[in-house]
Amino acid sequence: MIEKNELILAIETSCDETAAAVVQDGTKLLSNVVATQMDIHQKFGGVVPEVASRHHIEQMTVVLEQAVTEANVTMEDIDAVAVTEGPGLVGALLVGVNAAKALAYAHGKPVIGVHHIAGHIYANRLEKEFEFPLLSLVVSGGHTELIYMEEHGEYEIIGETRDDAAGEAYDKVAKALSLPYPGGPQIDRLAQEGKDTYNFPRSYLEEGSYDFSFSGLKTAVINKLHHLRQKGEEIDVENVATSFQESVIDVLVDKTYDAAKDYGVKQLIVAGGVSANKTLRARMEQRFAETDVELAIPPLYLCTDNAAMIGAAASVEYHKQNYASLNLNANPGLMM
Ligand code: KG4
Ligand code: ZN
Repeated sequence: MIEKNELILAIETSCDETAAAVVQDGTKLLSNVVATQMDIHQKFGGVVPEVASRHHIEQMTVVLEQAVTEANVTMEDIDAVAVTEGPGLVGALLVGVNAAKALAYAHGKPVIGVHHIAGHIYANRLEKEFEFPLLSLVVSGGHTELIYMEEHGEYEIIGETRDDAAGEAYDKVAKALSLPYPGGPQIDRLAQEGKDTYNFPRSYLEEGSYDFSFSGLKTAVINKLHHLRQKGEEIDVENVATSFQESVIDVLVDKTYDAAKDYGVKQLIVAGGVSANKTLRARMEQRFAETDVELAIPPLYLCTDNAAMIGAAASVEYHKQNYASLNLNANPGLMM
């Protein structure tokens, strides 16, 4: 038996990664296994839910075994099994939820249901301790939210997207440029080579609002591409990528900065798949360098979906003994 306070085995299957991890005390990663299906969904230009579920079923036990083995523990050492309860694709979530319940039942361990976005925020705790009050910008394929936290496990959404999520806009613009799925990393790469020449709109919404809107920008880019194609004019893909990305990042950075100032936070956490973006990371660093707000952005492997983040978020619930019953169900629209 290793020296420990608590060990959590965590499972994440909300979208297209089958992931399992063992996390100690919510802060230390003992193993983090991610089996991605990205290459499979690439053929279809996006995630096909039925295909995702099928692959989760195929991978789940393999990934679980690997996570336990790599952590050098046995199921006896594990104190609780945590799983992403939602939001996400229902069929995909169900594979993880059922695996977690079966394991917990078989080994007599409690189950903890975790909100996927809480996971993204807590990915940071595997690197750096939280300092409250804190603000988190969560930018992923399904979410764009500003979340204020005064203590562990307490989440207040102070702003969110009114339409498309930032990652969704990246993926749709990438598709319009005939780039492979997922589009975020492709646009990120191309944007390093281009200039902001297309002057796409920046949507700040009404004064004082921390909400976001990216569908107008997405439509502006798509309309521009149609026009250029109709007129037979050349499309400078790098410049389109840079122009689009500048519009997204200007708004993300400005609103986050204003909210951090208004709420007087000590720490700013950037989380979710889009936080892997090179320019977003650099721009956040520049903007917060002059402030006394500490900036925390996870390393790339913790930005996109993984189970370690679910284990980290679950640790807080474990200490509150906030356990789920064996009736726990996948909740695709789970609120925070
Ligand atoms: O958090 P995540 O892995 O899954 C969800 O919970 O949605 O985020 C995936 C999203 C996708 O939209 C993907 O295009 C975007 O994150 N993404 C990026 C980058 N890497 C991933 N967006 C911009 N730049 C990147 N480098
Ligand atoms: Zn995610």
